[in-house]
Amino acid sequence: MFTKATTTTLLFAALIGSSAAAAAEAGDLDKGRAVYAQRCLHCHGENADGKGHLIDFLKVVPADLTVLQQQKKGCVAERVLKAVLGRHTTTAPEHKMPLLKDNLTPEDVYFVSEFVKSVQK
Ligand code: HEC
Repeated sequence: MFTKATTTTLLFAALIGSSAAAAAEAGDLDKGRAVYAQRCLHCHGENADGKGHLIDFLKVVPADLTVLQQQKKGCVAERVLKAVLGRHTTTAPEHKMPLLKDNLTPEDVYFVSEFVKSVQK
């Protein structure tokens, strides 16, 4: 899941007691933003508020991703992971988000959840 370089950086940060390890590295966030722009933005919108340009074609309004933390239904990364794996709970199964797991690498999922974490209100 982590590249060797990332692991080394995290280890180094842990050793010197830096808080940088806790926060996403800037590079990860940029990669997450790119994954989001390519795979999520059309539905979830420019501002991650669920108002993407495809919403008129969807049966169900995409979730506002900026309030996941406020909703306290599990951590943000877990919600993202479940959503891309098609395992999140919905009222109607046919309304589930399209499965994205085949289009995303595990790294992509990690990066995009770092991005979604960064847009929490
Ligand atoms: C084709 C449109 C579409 C795309 C593309 C899409 N989503 Fe969604 N997403 C939805 C819809 C619609 C819902 C809400 C309906 C539901 O409950 O399944 C949703 C719900 C979610 C949720 C909330 C799940 C929960 O716990 O309630 C998360 C998190 C999420 N999407 C993340 C993502 C991420 C990250 C991407 C890109 C990797 C993405 N989505 C791409 C349509 C989309």
